[in-house]
Amino acid sequence: MLFTRRRQLKRVGLRSLQACLVIFLLIFVVLPLIFRYSVTFQRGILFLTFIKYPKGLDLTKPESVGLYATRNFYITVKDHDQDEDGVRVGVWHVLPSNAVRRFKRELRVEEAVAQDPDQQLEPAPGNERELKELSPAIRSEFPVVLPENEQLFYERLLRMPGGTVVLYLHGNTASRGSGHRSEVYKLLRKLNYHVFSFDYRGYADSDPVPPTEEGVVRDAMMVFEYIANTTSNPIVVWGHSLGTGVATHLCAKLASLRERAPRGVILESPFTNIRDEIRMHPFAKLYKNLPWFNFTISQPMYTNKLRFESDIHVMEFRQPIMIIHAEDDVVVPFNLGYRLYRIALDGRSRTSGPVEFHRFGASRKYGHKYLCRAPELPGLIQKFVENYRDTVY
Ligand SMILES: *[C@@H]1O[C@H](CO)[C@@H](O)[C@H](O)[C@H]1NC(C)=O
Ligand SMILES: *[C@@H]1O[C@H](CO)[C@@H](O)[C@H](O)[C@H]1NC(C)=O
Repeated sequence: MLFTRRRQLKRVGLRSLQACLVIFLLIFVVLPLIFRYSVTFQRGILFLTFIKYPKGLDLTKPESVGLYATRNFYITVKDHDQDEDGVRVGVWHVLPSNAVRRFKRELRVEEAVAQDPDQQLEPAPGNERELKELSPAIRSEFPVVLPENEQLFYERLLRMPGGTVVLYLHGNTASRGSGHRSEVYKLLRKLNYHVFSFDYRGYADSDPVPPTEEGVVRDAMMVFEYIANTTSNPIVVWGHSLGTGVATHLCAKLASLRERAPRGVILESPFTNIRDEIRMHPFAKLYKNLPWFNFTISQPMYTNKLRFESDIHVMEFRQPIMIIHAEDDVVVPFNLGYRLYRIALDGRSRTSGPVEFHRFGASRKYGHKYLCRAPELPGLIQKFVENYRDTVY
């Protein structure tokens, strides 16, 4: 009796050991091997286009996330000359506060302006003189802004002399309408900058083409080109998280344009390159110490050109860089942003623009997404933009 019981137990023990082994093999061997051989899996994990929030957001109505006086439109990106269809990407153009205040009647946003606490604050300096001079002519041309003349009106304001434009490059997951991103646009609008933000291919309402590094940089390039085609006002690039990799790559590609290139780049929570970032990411916690981590995870992404090598690209353009990073960032660890700063500082030529770094203490709990809530941030941005918007490096 006792003897058979023990044998049974032994058998159960053996079976659970086998089960553990199978689970171990599946999680730590089979899954990484699938990752190694599936570009789709690699892109999926990197870009996370399938994670969507907030639910049910209608991107054609930016006012639903508090962004009144914002134009939603689409730009078609051709990947090469023979690309007949192209890739359509969704873009928001957020008007600066000073223009919104002046044209609130024409834009039909008087009520929204009256209810916006940001509009009750002391206005930031901007191109008030130019706005004042040109507004009678614009008013008579656009007594009311309707879908038919919206594009002309927004482009007219974009061309207004003395303005500044920020091109915002978002990180992975979700869309241009996500909460933490909208918070940044509102902050930049308050500083009287025009803000452009868009969804790369594969995200939100942009065409569902699988994203690649080359593809998303190309999307950014076309939105930049649209802005630069429309206005000669200075453009500053802002990247967040994965968007910092897009930002440095874009700036490297535009460097040869000299005075038509972006005047500076702000990197929020950046990393050095994907090899470093993926090892540090919370998703990789279970995997990063496996001897086959490089073979199954990092190397295949490099081979498939998913690299985002900001540590190389920062050497390839000359414009000033401002890096901001929170110590309690768990998605892109603080050390990676700081390392990128040191690399840029040591490696860029003496005649390149300055590189600055701002650290935000862990006790302030801004994490990966909420540096925009730091009360000193608007001042830092304003100083950076004022210092470099008119300088060509
Ligand atoms: C910018 O202007 C050039 C020259 O007119 C044109 O070929 C190009 O399509 C424009 N790009 C965008 C994105 O509007
Ligand atoms: C994986 O690659 C990184 C970066 O090249 C390297 O520093 C590290 O030593 C490699 N790890 C292994 C286990 O080969």
